[in-house]
Amino acid sequence: MVYRVPFIEPAKNYRMIKDEIDAVFFEVVSKGDLVMRGQLKQFEENFSKFVGTKYAVGLNSGYDALHISMIAAGIKKGDEVIVPAHTFLATASAVVNAGGTPVLVDVGKDYDIDVTKIEEAITPRTKAIIPVHLNGRVSDMGAVMGIADKYNLVVVEDACQSLGATFNRKNAGSFSLTGCWSFYPFKMLGGYGDGGAITTNDPRVARMATLLRYNGEDRETKEYHYHGFSCLLDNLQAAFLDVKLRHLPDWINRRREIAARYREGLRDIEELKLPHFDDPRFEDVYQNYVIRTSRRDELADHLKKNGVEVLIHYPKPYYSYRALKLEDRGFPETEAICREVLSLPMNVEINDEQVEYVIKTVRSFFK
Ligand SMILES: Cc1ncc(COP(=O)(O)O)c(C=O)c1O
Repeated sequence: MVYRVPFIEPAKNYRMIKDEIDAVFFEVVSKGDLVMRGQLKQFEENFSKFVGTKYAVGLNSGYDALHISMIAAGIKKGDEVIVPAHTFLATASAVVNAGGTPVLVDVGKDYDIDVTKIEEAITPRTKAIIPVHLNGRVSDMGAVMGIADKYNLVVVEDACQSLGATFNRKNAGSFSLTGCWSFYPFKMLGGYGDGGAITTNDPRVARMATLLRYNGEDRETKEYHYHGFSCLLDNLQAAFLDVKLRHLPDWINRRREIAARYREGLRDIEELKLPHFDDPRFEDVYQNYVIRTSRRDELADHLKKNGVEVLIHYPKPYYSYRALKLEDRGFPETEAICREVLSLPMNVEINDEQVEYVIKTVRSFFK
């Protein structure tokens, strides 16, 4: 189906920056600069500057960033790591694949980990916390870092959905041991294929990630230091991402503008909860514009029938999949969220007329 307002339009985004993308494509390919060349280094420098950390290490995915962070944090068999019950599964999978046990904690009304519930989940085996900055909003990092200090825990941020978001004017991904990033095509900074990165201020972690991503090998000395992985960010993707990074501040502004329009157009609908939490410590970037209503499924049908593409982040709690063997300690907010949330189109490709159409179509449902 061709939607009047698609959820995302990667081809249109390409057309917006075609000349710049084509230029770097020809440069990289014609020189044969395919693996670990200047473009990767350049992007890592620019990306770490954007986030506000000393180092960035380009990887193949957000998952790899989380997995390598768990190894760098020293997570091993028997260690417990606190993760939110409402997130993308990769957060918990990285813990499991490093040998640890994820211990889930419910989220709050803003979809991020409920910091008032972290301490009751801590046991003598707890080694780390992974706050996930979901939908473009940083977790309450003041509280998370305070708890981590008190119990001597490592913190790793899953910042895959919050590039450019801040808490107390500090950027997502710059508070803790590592920030973990995804450049999956549909992220705010998305490649033309998979990509990811770690940001960190710790030179030991930066070096470890740099070795682990390339089979554990130091490329200069040719010495192997670890049994590593093959999860390097492609040089070509790095070149594309570097182009897009230059546009990111404008794109974040545009997202905030669209969010403000949605807010203005939908605020009086009583049955609808909008993702504006009015706490001046947080500046959100709206990776997803998530609305909430008890009539979610009907609203989703209505929007789709009328040409507005919507998605659900996420329709079912990940811990409810029995094959994953995760402990469900009871997470009422996550359960309600999975029944009630709906993500409206939020991207830099849509124009004002399309935004108004989404508002009108939502309003026509509640009339
Ligand atoms: C919160 C969160 N964590 C982790 C990931 C994993 O990133 P990737 O798909 O690049 O492996 C994603 C991507 O969807 C995500 O949204």
